[in-house]
Amino acid sequence: MSLKIIGTGRGLPLRQVSNDELATFLDTSDEWISSRTGIQSRPICTSETLTDLATAAAQQALANAALRPADIDVLICATIEGDFRTPSLAYCVSERLGLTGRALDLNTACTGFIYALDLASLYLEQQKAHYVLIVCAEMMSKHTDWTDRSTCVLFGDGAAACVATQGQALRYLNLITSPAVSILNLPSGSGNSPFASQPRPDGFLHMDGQEVFKFAVNAVLQEIAQVTSTLSLAPEQIDYYLLHQANGRIIDAVRSHADLPVTKFPRNIAHYGNISAVTIPLLLSEMLDEQLIKAGDILFMAAFGAGMSVGSCVLFWE
Ligand code: ACO
Repeated sequence: MSLKIIGTGRGLPLRQVSNDELATFLDTSDEWISSRTGIQSRPICTSETLTDLATAAAQQALANAALRPADIDVLICATIEGDFRTPSLAYCVSERLGLTGRALDLNTACTGFIYALDLASLYLEQQKAHYVLIVCAEMMSKHTDWTDRSTCVLFGDGAAACVATQGQALRYLNLITSPAVSILNLPSGSGNSPFASQPRPDGFLHMDGQEVFKFAVNAVLQEIAQVTSTLSLAPEQIDYYLLHQANGRIIDAVRSHADLPVTKFPRNIAHYGNISAVTIPLLLSEMLDEQLIKAGDILFMAAFGAGMSVGSCVLFWE
C-alpha cells in the first residue's frame, strides 16, 4: 500500500437542528435522543446542494495541501447519491473545480471513505495518479422519512475531503461484505412506470436499529483484533480509534469491550449525527485542525454500513 494524506477539508450546511427542534414536530425528546445516541444537534441542508458542500470540502482540502485543482489526477466521491443519479457527484464537482481527469462516484454507504482510500491506493501504487482527491458527501436529510422518529433523528448532512498521494502511511486496509440487505437499506424509489406489476418500495431509509447495533459492535471488535494481530501491535499502541460516528453508544460499547481509555476514541457525533461516509474524514479533519494528531501517531479507522459492509484501515501518520 502506498498512500498518505496531505490535506483535509469540510463543507457543512449552515442550518443546525437541535433535538428540541425535532421534538416540535416529532414524538421525541432531547432526553431520548441524547441518551440513546449521544446526538444533540445535526447540520441539515436548506438551500445548499450536495455539490455545494462537496466542492467546499474539496477546495479546503486542496488549499490545505497547497495544491491547485489542475494537480488532481483522480477524483473519487463517496456518496449514497449525489444531486443527480447521473451525472455523478464527481462530475458535478469536476465542473465546479475545472477538473478534467478521472472522476467517479462510489456507493458503499458508511464505509465509503475506507473504500475510497483502497481505490486511491491502487491508483497511486500503479502510478496512474500522483494526487487523488477523495470527497465524501451525504445529504441524509433527503433519504430519511421525517415522520419516522426512529430514523430521521439519527442523521445529518455534510461533506469532508482529503488529498492522498504516494507515501507509506497506509499500512493495513480490510474490507468485508457480510450480505444482509434487509436490516439496513434505502430503496431507490418507485418511479411511475405504468407497467410495474406491483407497488415498489418508497425511497426512505429502513433500519433494524438493534440488529445494526449488534452487528457494528461485533464487526469493529473483530477488526481491532485482526489488525492488531496482523501488524503485531498491542491495542494500546494505537493512538486513536476513529470509528464511524453512527451512535455514541456503539463507540462506548466497543471501547468498553476493548478495555481502552476514552481518550483513544475521539468523537464529534454530538453536533453532527451520523453523516454516513462523511463521519471519519470529518473527524480526521477536525482533529488535524486542532493539532491532536502528530507525525508517528497510529490511527485505526473502522466503518460499518448498509450491505452490511465493514471497512477498517491503519495509518501511521506522516
Ligand atoms: N424518540 C422517542 N422514542 C423513540 C424514538 C425517538 N426518536 N425512536 C424510537 N423510539 C421508541 C421506539 O418506538 C420504542 O418504543 P416502544 O418500546 O414503545 O416500542 C423505544 O423507543 C425503544 O426503541 P428501540 O428501537 O428498542 O431503541 P434502541 O434502544 O434500540 O435505540 C437506536 C434505537 C438508537 C436506533 C439504536 O438501536 C441504534 O443506534 N442502533 C444502531 C443504528 C445505527 O448505527 N445506524 C446507522 C448504521 S449504518 C449507517 O450509518 C447508514
